[in-house]
Amino acid sequence: MSAPITKLAEQLLACFQADEQGRGAVRALESYARAHEDWRTFARFDPALYTRNLVARNEHFEMLVLCWSAGQESPIHDHAGQHCFMAVLEGRIEELQYEVPAGSDGGALRCTGARVYERGQVAYIHDRIALHRVRPHGGHPAVSLHLYARPIDVCRVFDEASGAVLSRQLIYHSATG
Ligand code: SIN
Repeated sequence: MSAPITKLAEQLLACFQADEQGRGAVRALESYARAHEDWRTFARFDPALYTRNLVARNEHFEMLVLCWSAGQESPIHDHAGQHCFMAVLEGRIEELQYEVPAGSDGGALRCTGARVYERGQVAYIHDRIALHRVRPHGGHPAVSLHLYARPIDVCRVFDEASGAVLSRQLIYHSATG
């Protein structure tokens, strides 16, 4: 019998094959995050940086377990025009959203909102909505499940104070579970 996380990947593939927006993905991620623990097979913490651990990848999406030690955070970044869903698996995760700068020399980024997500909650973002930064909340580690549709190999990262932009190649810290 397939592990719950394998079943989730199969369910998501069916969602994205049926509909490019992946309607149904949020409910599938919520149900998984509330009920299952087998994601722990993919969880690897590193004291130096948050880790990106691949669970599944195909032409429609990639799904990763991200492990966040207290004090770690993502850079402010975009999502290369793709859909990004984030389900909290353990701990709490804060998402800060920033206005997408109009040009490349826009100056300091404007934070437009912050929200803390609990286990089982799912966040969604797209470049049409905002840039964001993600980090664990409350001084504790956290683990989140990220679904990118389609897969993202390169994104843009932004300096909060100057608005300066760099292209970043995204890597996996593990890809075997
Ligand atoms: C990342 O993928 O490295 C950052 C988290 C996210 O935007 O989903």
